[in-house]
Amino acid sequence: MHAVVLVGGFGKRLRPLTLVTPKPLLPIANLPLLERLMASLARGGVTDAVLSLGFKPEPFLIAFPSNVCAGVKLTYAVEDRPLDTAGAIGFAARHAEIDKRGETFLVANGDVLTDLDIAALVAFHKSTGAQATIHLTPVEDPSQYGVVETNPQGKVNRFVEKPSPGQTTSRNVNGGTYVFEASALDRMPGVAPMSIERETFPELVKDGELFGYATSDYWIDAGRPDTYVRANIELLQRKSIHKVEAISAMSQIAKSATVTQSVIARGCKLGENCQIIRSVLLAGATIDDDAVVVDSAVMGHVGSFAQVNGCLIGVDGEVKSGAILRDAKVPDAS
Ligand code: GDD
Ligand code: MG
Repeated sequence: MHAVVLVGGFGKRLRPLTLVTPKPLLPIANLPLLERLMASLARGGVTDAVLSLGFKPEPFLIAFPSNVCAGVKLTYAVEDRPLDTAGAIGFAARHAEIDKRGETFLVANGDVLTDLDIAALVAFHKSTGAQATIHLTPVEDPSQYGVVETNPQGKVNRFVEKPSPGQTTSRNVNGGTYVFEASALDRMPGVAPMSIERETFPELVKDGELFGYATSDYWIDAGRPDTYVRANIELLQRKSIHKVEAISAMSQIAKSATVTQSVIARGCKLGENCQIIRSVLLAGATIDDDAVVVDSAVMGHVGSFAQVNGCLIGVDGEVKSGAILRDAKVPDAS
């Protein structure tokens, strides 16, 4: 089976981390998110994937020089301007000639980590005869997602992207993994920007061609500062299909440093008495003596006695000695 994987967004919410590394290539427990996603797709029967690229395509080409990721053969569809989600799917699917082959295909948002059984999703899709099926997952606050209302058989009655309060009572949201019949590509010409969430799904609903498949499998969209850090930490704690290396052997950690529920990548340097709590240190991060890092992701440098809480520190990020930062981005990347 072929898949289109959407990896062309700007990753704005994860700036400054994404100024150097596109969101799908950021590591989750020391392995790029995209590799973990591709491994799940491969387990579900995906053999070939087209990466739907726009912003910063080069790092992807460099990351997979043999054009294989987790056993899946890769091709690349590079947009010359952002086509938004449905535009991107239409463009990439045609690039991979999915339209010509007329086969059922899969689509995945490039920032989702889930234990969803892809083969079961595809089997459900085939059982309905619909043009499209989306994976649904329950969340407490649906305001950041596409909220979906279905009937008991799973037929979607309503799809509302990022609803305002009171717009819907459903807690089931679009999990960002879809199965499509090739015929659905007629709705996505792929030549101009178009949103799958705001245009294509509502149209499919009108025509009775959209189903939802709800599961309670582990699911997280790692595209926000808090969820990016949480996706890392939860992978250390939960039972998962994924292999995990929490602390790279290629890092230098002072004996008196304490590391609690955190991920340390290769090339990191941790000074005496520093404390790293529920945080992610990416390759090359440096934490000086007595600094405290909590609920944060760090690529750059945290000076001695600094306290950093809920922050993203980019590759050029410098936290001065003794600074106290909360919910900040360094350098400022709003
Ligand atoms: N190629 C390409 N071109 N990809 C794009 C573009 C584009 O113009 N715009 C966004 N993408 C990619 C992003 O890289 C990401 O992998 C995916 O499309 C979804 O974009 P996000 O920016 O992560 O969307 P979101 O998290 O706010 O919401 C989406 O995901 C939620 C689940 O995680 C929506 O699909 C929601 O309905 C859904 O609930
Ligand atoms: Mg997202």
